[in-house]
Amino acid sequence: MKIESKLIHSGDRKKPGDYIPVTTPIHMSSSYFYDSMEQLDHVLGRQEPGQSYSRYDNPTSNALEELVTDLENGFGAVACASGMSAMHLAVLSALIDRPKRILAADVLYGATTNMLLNVFAALGIESTFVDICDLPAIERAVAEFKPGTMIMETVSNPMMRVGEMDKIAAIGKRAGVTLIVDNTFSTPLLIRPLELGAAISVHSATKYMAGHGDVLGGVVIADAEHFDCIKIISRNIGPVMGPFESYLTMRGIKTMGLRMERHCSNASKVASWLATHPQVERVHFTGDPAHPDAATIRRVFPANLYGAMVSFEIRDAGRDEIFRFMDGLKMIVRATSLGDVHTMMLYPSMSSHREISPKHRERMGIRDNLVRLSTGIEAAEDIIADLAQALD
Ligand SMILES: Cc1ncc(COP(=O)(O)O)c(C=O)c1O
Repeated sequence: MKIESKLIHSGDRKKPGDYIPVTTPIHMSSSYFYDSMEQLDHVLGRQEPGQSYSRYDNPTSNALEELVTDLENGFGAVACASGMSAMHLAVLSALIDRPKRILAADVLYGATTNMLLNVFAALGIESTFVDICDLPAIERAVAEFKPGTMIMETVSNPMMRVGEMDKIAAIGKRAGVTLIVDNTFSTPLLIRPLELGAAISVHSATKYMAGHGDVLGGVVIADAEHFDCIKIISRNIGPVMGPFESYLTMRGIKTMGLRMERHCSNASKVASWLATHPQVERVHFTGDPAHPDAATIRRVFPANLYGAMVSFEIRDAGRDEIFRFMDGLKMIVRATSLGDVHTMMLYPSMSSHREISPKHRERMGIRDNLVRLSTGIEAAEDIIADLAQALD
């Protein structure tokens, strides 16, 4: 070969030898070839497993997909470029052969609500919203509205309400309606939606799964009935996660068990402390024995792993006081996300729920004095000390 061709081909495209890397490498290749055209033909036709093109499959992303499928006892998974692309893929797949109507929890992550109201509505897909903790209302809405799918979050964001997922899934099943659950807040360690009757579980992997604030990603995990459809739609619309992000997410998941234990125990300590502070009007935390859904939480969550998200309302505070309070934080990071190793605080009416109208926010219970804390894995004493000095 001439040097111009050597630049392109020398050293590349070696078959792995007779060894197995101890951790899945980052496969940064957009396409793959085989010794024979016949084999490539079989792989492209999905008659035999293999890699052909990274929008369809990628070895690193496939490893992550196998991991999350195993964690939630699903049939298969697709790793996506963000939590929202995962939710988009899940909803499209659930509705493809069903009535184009969505019954959704009335409190959801802001972008999910926006997707339903501003994107799907414009495409003729109608959504109606229901209190996820009101089973008779859900039953009525399923009978009257006849949705194609239902959407809920394991723990609603940011009010921390917990619906009875197994009973909601059963209501849906009786009417042939699938349930999609956004399980981001709880992780597979706390809740596995498919075991409770949901058809599809979605995560923003950006959060606890990756866990270190360096990945944007999502996963869709599905049962046997829905996985093939999800995979086919994914191949066609291409919302997939890149191999580097898949690698980082897999790496993050390895310590998710240890992290969640610390996240949850820190959250318990912080929430208990906040509840005693004179400036704090109300605390919303799933570990609170007086939580309105405590009976459901004790029934479906493992003991002492009730989540690590804590919202609280500051007495007599408006936007100016909240800004002063948050500007006063020294260690806690003021940023939009959750589930990272560092503690983060967000102001829902300014960020996660910014694009929701003030009226709709009020109906969701999101007042201007509400802040949301994602409790990290630092020493609990330092988190509390930072909150104390900023509140002072
Ligand atoms: C509960 C929940 N679901 C979905 C998402 C969307 O995830 P992403 O930002 O990875 O698209 C978020 C993001 O904050 C979230 O909090």
